[in-house]
Amino acid sequence: MTTLRLGVNIDHVATVRNARGGARPDPVRAALVAIEAGADGITAHLREDRRHIRDDDMKRLKASISKPLNFEMAATEQMLDIALSVAPHACCLVPEKRTERTTEGGLDVVGGFGHLKPFVAELGRAGVRVSLFIEPETEALEAAVALGAPVVELHTGAWCHALENGEQARGAAEFARLSAAARKAAELGLECHAGHGLDFDTARLIAGFPEIVELNIGHFLIGEAIFVGLAESVRMMRKAMDEGRAAAGDA
Ligand code: PXP
Repeated sequence: MTTLRLGVNIDHVATVRNARGGARPDPVRAALVAIEAGADGITAHLREDRRHIRDDDMKRLKASISKPLNFEMAATEQMLDIALSVAPHACCLVPEKRTERTTEGGLDVVGGFGHLKPFVAELGRAGVRVSLFIEPETEALEAAVALGAPVVELHTGAWCHALENGEQARGAAEFARLSAAARKAAELGLECHAGHGLDFDTARLIAGFPEIVELNIGHFLIGEAIFVGLAESVRMMRKAMDEGRAAAGDA
């Protein structure tokens, strides 16, 4: 079995900081604690409205952490300039609507092909590993290949929401869709990540897909940190992922 990396998204540490202004809690400190507790990388989303992470956070994260920084961003000229100056390990291109509470769907890689192409190319030329946040669909995977992106991140939100709402049949259908997409991604030679809305239970389950090599998890981990502390929240997630991976290996 391939190892499964945990990318900890620290956006919502910045959300809490921004609720009062000032500097605390500091997302960079959270990143360092998460790494110490077993995170394999740190993810942060610089949104156009700067509602959580800010430009300076990205620079400080890049300067302070010893593990890869995954910079989530919309495909805009302004974000491209910032990403090129921060020079993170990876960039995950995500769709962004100003009115949404979080990233609600995957990128329209088919309809937005022409728009995305120069962003993928320019980031790639700069040595940044480009990932596309997509719905678990064959057409999206094929478009990712045609765009030249080496990585895709499958949007797990629909599956997680179905389970949260007790919609078992829809949950099973979404799980099957994710499973098929993970297999297809590997077949197409894409590195496959997944994320959005994951908690201990869903991370344990999706860890069973051998094609998936990285999970990016934020909101749930920061929420759990209120009760058990961030380090313990990350350790518990790592344990859930390892259990899920091992159980699938035994199956
Ligand atoms: N992956 C991507 C591409 C995202 O946009 C987000 C949310 O910022 C996440 C993962 C993490 O989602 P969550 O905060 O629900 O764990």
